[in-house]
Amino acid sequence: MTQDLNQMREHMLTAIAAASGLDALEACRVEALGKQGTITALLKTLGKMTPDERLVQGPIIQGLREAVANGIAQRKATLERAALDARLASETLDMTLPADAAPAGTIHPVSQVMDELAEIFADLGFAVATGPEIETDWHNFSALNIPETHPARAMHDTFYIQQGIDAKAAGTADEKTTFSLLRTHTSPVQIRTMLSQKPPIRIIAPGRTYRSDSDATHTPMFHQVEGLVIDKGITLGHLKWTLETFVKAFFERDDIVLRMRPSYFPFTEPSVEIDVGYTLVKGKRVVGGAEPDGWLEILGSGMVHRKVIEACGLDPDEWQGFAFGCGIDRLAMLKYGMDDLRPFFDGDIRWLKHYGFSSLDVPTLSAGVGA
Ligand code: DAH
Repeated sequence: MTQDLNQMREHMLTAIAAASGLDALEACRVEALGKQGTITALLKTLGKMTPDERLVQGPIIQGLREAVANGIAQRKATLERAALDARLASETLDMTLPADAAPAGTIHPVSQVMDELAEIFADLGFAVATGPEIETDWHNFSALNIPETHPARAMHDTFYIQQGIDAKAAGTADEKTTFSLLRTHTSPVQIRTMLSQKPPIRIIAPGRTYRSDSDATHTPMFHQVEGLVIDKGITLGHLKWTLETFVKAFFERDDIVLRMRPSYFPFTEPSVEIDVGYTLVKGKRVVGGAEPDGWLEILGSGMVHRKVIEACGLDPDEWQGFAFGCGIDRLAMLKYGMDDLRPFFDGDIRWLKHYGFSSLDVPTLSAGVGA
């Protein structure tokens, strides 16, 4: 018996080593270890043996099974490596060949507008800041003076994250460290910036934001840009000048009229909403004109609330500032004339060809930010 098994082992290992390809190897495997395989049949005989016989034969048969299985695994690795080497050798790519067609991609209007914003605000001394899209309750709400019971939380149509919901149910959620939601606005970047940098601060924070909302002018994911200035002696006058300078540079015309309307945001006091005047040109609303035909709301802003400054560990009697938040997609629609937001995120190449920008056309103030 042992003699037979030794022969069988030799025979199988030789066949495995000689297998010329993955198919041949698989045939060896089925023959030995498959349902009807030789070794499988031997393993089945163990059940019918007496305990003494099994004590002797068990390790021998298991050893055979293991040797064959190892042999197959090794041969398989060798064959696969050889196949990959052959493929790498045959699939060469000459990177020095000229492209046979011009690049077809375009810069998405949202990316374009973000670049324009960065360019305009860099000229005013603002740096670009970023923050996570998955946020904590504290950064997205509490630190912005929106406590748990505040009605503004309901207005934000927040997407909560299961991990955060579970932590809350289990009573283990720490609102400062449990990442529990998709940020509903870019305002939490104000908090992160004030916590990580010493004032004076001048930043804009463009990025993705999320709310459970969907129609022609709302998508569940959209883009905002936040602005924050923290310094000594900052007033509403600085806010007004900054926004006027920004809107004129963005729409590339000087005859822009802004209107400030009193409003309410928990994180600013006072709060103002900013409208920009439009004129009707062939029935279409065009931003600008010294004597506006009407107003379009473009952003929310105000003087940063004392409680927000305090939440970030700064003394509100020493440091003041202004902040603003603005929808980037809406800015793009107003400037470049789209009237439906949804195709922004459909990835339709025809839309991108029509509304996209050349990748070589980088916005600069001197050449015109509008491309
Ligand atoms: N976070 C507000 C929103 O999403 C927008 C906003 C308003 C931001 C006023 C601000 C601000 O920084 O001062 O509706």
